[in-house]
Amino acid sequence: MSPALGDYVGEERLTPVEKTLFGKYKLGKLLGYGAFAKVYHGWDMESKQSVAIKAINKHKTVTRGLTGHIKREIAAMRRLRHHNIVRLQEVLANQKKIYFVLEFAKGGELYSKVSKHRFSEDLSRRYFQQLISAVRYCHSRGVYHRDLKLENLLLDENWTLKVTDFGLSALTYTQDNRLFHTMCGTPAYVAPEILAKKGYDGAKVDIWSCGIILFVLNAGYLPFNDSNVIVMYRKICKGEYHVPRWMSSELKRFLSRLLDTNPQTRITIDEIINDPWFTIGYKDTKSCSDHFEIKDGDLKSLNAFDLISFSSGCNLSGLFGDNEGGEMFLSTASPEEIVGRVVGAAEEERLTVVVKKKWCVRFDGGQFRNFTLTVEVKRLTVDIMVVEVRWRECEGESSTEMWKGRLRPRLSGLIYRPDGPVAGE
Ligand code: ADE
Repeated sequence: MSPALGDYVGEERLTPVEKTLFGKYKLGKLLGYGAFAKVYHGWDMESKQSVAIKAINKHKTVTRGLTGHIKREIAAMRRLRHHNIVRLQEVLANQKKIYFVLEFAKGGELYSKVSKHRFSEDLSRRYFQQLISAVRYCHSRGVYHRDLKLENLLLDENWTLKVTDFGLSALTYTQDNRLFHTMCGTPAYVAPEILAKKGYDGAKVDIWSCGIILFVLNAGYLPFNDSNVIVMYRKICKGEYHVPRWMSSELKRFLSRLLDTNPQTRITIDEIINDPWFTIGYKDTKSCSDHFEIKDGDLKSLNAFDLISFSSGCNLSGLFGDNEGGEMFLSTASPEEIVGRVVGAAEEERLTVVVKKKWCVRFDGGQFRNFTLTVEVKRLTVDIMVVEVRWRECEGESSTEMWKGRLRPRLSGLIYRPDGPVAGE
């Protein structure tokens, strides 16, 4: 069970006998559970943010500790940063359990919305586009989901789709890629080539499951379903499904390409994003941090234009001109160091420090406590942070002056200029 959209499951909802995990997270109520895992609401005691904590029993999944291949998959998952993917914040483990600390999706499961009423074709397309954006991003990094289903699609507070459990199949698949939990849960989303046990391609399998999801969004029911699992398998392998009368012929055609039982001829991701049904209103919302290719050494040769082109979806215009009400700069320091240095400078100026969220701090000050300055650090690439400084001008006090004249000069070495040397301002 997930909270309804708009529900706030915050610290105040935690039970009085809360458990603390590794001294870092408070464990709240149970959000849901499956064959291997339980998901709890959690509270990050440092950032004061809600998180979801997925606890997996080691003995039910990996039997001999975390193998190299699983460690590599977890490392790949931690590098996934996309607007439509639940962010994996941290992985913790003790002898019995592995804990995945995840971004908390406040809007709950997409499933609970569709189960009330099927979606229009337009709305189905909008969610499907977000799903494909996430899947394409992961596939291009060699990460496959292999268990995509409606239950793994969550929503944030803005109704934006967030895919969860990307890469977690590393824990539920054996090393030779056989599904570890074939008999658990429904096979409704499983591709025919998995059932045929002929070996499969992770990318093709995910595309099949995306086809099932799109069908359910618009039809309101599963394309392959039967109370008898064997009958259901047979339907999947034959690709036998009935389309509802309200589906447009364009959508029917598109679905037939996704639900092609032959993985060799099934539509590819590149074909999907060029399909006429799919492209209507599509903008690929790349995340700011969708650029792991850039390494520290490359920084020297980056110029303003490179940065803008690397950062589609992230408005960096503030980096290159005078910006009323704020400014932006780049830094190669860690977010913790940036926030620490800025807070240190603000404390020397006797400003009041308010931590708003992780890597976002507000400073209040002025003779009448009437000016406000907010500093937020966002990751642009593995090594480059964008620091946004916003201020509100108030009569008699100058936040601009406080930032430019007093705080910024204390941040020597922290501010990176792409067109020139590292500046100590
Ligand atoms: N249920 C499972 N994962 C979740 C998450 N990341 N946020 C909210 N609810 C969830």
